[in-house]
Amino acid sequence: MTYFSHEHYMQRCLQLAKNGISQVAPNPMVGSVIVCDERIIGEGFHKRYGGHHAEVEAINSVKDTSLLKKSTLYVNLEPCSHFGKTPPCADLIIATQIPKVVIGTRDPNPKVAGRGIRKLQEAGIEVVEGILEPEGQFFNRRFLTFITQQRPYIILKWAQSTDGYIGKQGKNIRISDEFSRILLHKWRSEEAAVMVGTTTAIIDNPQLNVRHYYGRQPLRVTVDTHGRLPKDLNLLDTSQQDTHIYTTHDLHAIVSNLYERGIQSLIVEGGAQLLNSFLAENLWDEARIIKSAMILGDGIKAPSIEDIDGEKHAWGTILFH
Ligand SMILES: NC(=O)c1ccc[n+]([C@@H]2O[C@H](COP(=O)([O-])OP(=O)(O)OC[C@H]3O[C@@H](n4cnc5c(N)ncnc54)[C@H](OP(=O)(O)O)[C@@H]3O)[C@@H](O)[C@H]2O)c1
Repeated sequence: MTYFSHEHYMQRCLQLAKNGISQVAPNPMVGSVIVCDERIIGEGFHKRYGGHHAEVEAINSVKDTSLLKKSTLYVNLEPCSHFGKTPPCADLIIATQIPKVVIGTRDPNPKVAGRGIRKLQEAGIEVVEGILEPEGQFFNRRFLTFITQQRPYIILKWAQSTDGYIGKQGKNIRISDEFSRILLHKWRSEEAAVMVGTTTAIIDNPQLNVRHYYGRQPLRVTVDTHGRLPKDLNLLDTSQQDTHIYTTHDLHAIVSNLYERGIQSLIVEGGAQLLNSFLAENLWDEARIIKSAMILGDGIKAPSIEDIDGEKHAWGTILFH
């Protein structure tokens, strides 16, 4: 009798893979589980860029390797078939004589793109694919966008008052509370780069680093087309963290350049003019709006994201006091 489905084990792969967030980019987050007679006998995940792939970690974790010959390997992304920073995982799986492999999502990387699956099948391995595919695609949305659209995955984020303002002209007003600040620092730690507009860089003088959470410091990005940024801004202190300052208004050019620099994801933190430009260019994937109980009465209007195609964009609001 079967107690657990492919979906159960694939869910565990995703759970394991999540541990690699912010450490593996520009690689995808991948987890793997090895099951024998309905028992998990090995598991692993891709821990850091350049490190072992998840399948290798999972296979290496199996104590009784004689069981591999009658096991199923689960992995949320197609095993690689090429020599990259590590040898092909498909070759290792074949060498271990694992008879069945269950995959979540195909790898659109042109170096893989179905070749990993073909290699396994040609070696006589049964391959099942498409398990929890939509979940797996959303899970690795940064990697998939980077590969298929050749640009970073773009998240727009702002905090707005109950009456729909993000701030007041020329003033640095904190709209969100301490808890949302911790959440924001977590979000920053998960993305490769963080960006603000020129006016926000000047008025708020943000550090744009991760202080209230642990994790990687993102690359800081801003624009200065008219040489408006004072030399003593926090952003210009690059002793702890890198900053790129662009001198063009052209967001497509900026985003292309970030792609060329290997930046897989970007969180844009305002202000309204910059956010509205990304919205107007339809150059975004996700919006995270923090709504606070504060009432400002007047000020800088928050961007509006009504009439958005929900199939193309993910967005949500979080309420804070
Ligand atoms: N509540 C929140 O979540 C939040 C977040 C951030 C900021 N804020 C507040 O928002 C205020 C600043 O917002 P803002 O809307 O006035 O300014 P902003 O979006 O921060 O900066 C706008 C300026 O950026 C430059 N820029 C360069 N490329 C651009 C592009 N493609 N699109 C738009 N602008 C571009 C332009 O300056 P040049 O003409 O010099 O090139 C433009 O005037 C501050 O008071 C800050 O406190 C609130």
